[in-house]
Amino acid sequence: MSQPTLTELACSVLNTADGREKTAKSHAAAALWFSAKEAGTPLEIGNSQPPDFPARPDEPELLPPNKVPRRKLGSVEGRNTLIHAIAHIELNAVDLHWDIIARFAHVKMPMGYFDDWVKAADEESKHFNLLCDRLEALGSHYGAFAAHAGMWRAAQETATDFMGRLAIVPMVLEARGLDVTPGMIQQFKSAKDAETVAALEVIYAEEVGHVAYGSKWFHFLCGRHDIDPKDEFHRLVQQYFPGGLKPPFNDEKRAEAGLPLDFYWPMAGD
Ligand SMILES: [Fe+2]
Ligand SMILES: [Fe+2]
Repeated sequence: MSQPTLTELACSVLNTADGREKTAKSHAAAALWFSAKEAGTPLEIGNSQPPDFPARPDEPELLPPNKVPRRKLGSVEGRNTLIHAIAHIELNAVDLHWDIIARFAHVKMPMGYFDDWVKAADEESKHFNLLCDRLEALGSHYGAFAAHAGMWRAAQETATDFMGRLAIVPMVLEARGLDVTPGMIQQFKSAKDAETVAALEVIYAEEVGHVAYGSKWFHFLCGRHDIDPKDEFHRLVQQYFPGGLKPPFNDEKRAEAGLPLDFYWPMAGD
């Protein structure tokens, strides 16, 4: 029986529109990757080309960020809006991790690099499902609210820039998640929504790993090309985020994830 390649699995996740179906495929792909490795018959990486845009369900409607309605957390509706926004980020994250696997598969990388992103994609799938479960328990569902249309922009802008992708997606965007998640956990604690707090705590703990994978493989490639990692990170942030990075930063969690202070503090905007 011939096994699928890792990039074939990645593309099949990317080309699946429904969120629950996409995350089920993502989880099955990760299980297959790790079980094949365990059995001593690892999957080939292959060279299947990912789509420019991942498939997405008809709902939610995607709007420019300034058109996405915000609500206060005092009401169930307001909490659902925020949980929905986070679920949307998690679904994009599933696609981002499979996309980096397939899009840059032509670059020779150690097995551990693929292990890391497969594990990250599997965790994002769990995050999406945890939040969908919360929405459904609160009488809503993913697709019920409008969502941010710009989430795939970072992927498009770095579609041919491997170092840029590592710098921008895990080391800037996912690191920003570490900065803002404690505040969101606090908001759900105030709203006495212990189940959503528990889901966000799982997410917060696992996201540290994703930032760490980004930093690890960014440093690895800098070493391969004999580039100074800090200078290169600064150059890429300037290129992709000319307005700078948004403080305050979660220095402790960023340190845990292998992001040194002198990488991001000099890039702080106002
Ligand atoms: Fe996540
Ligand atoms: Fe993540």
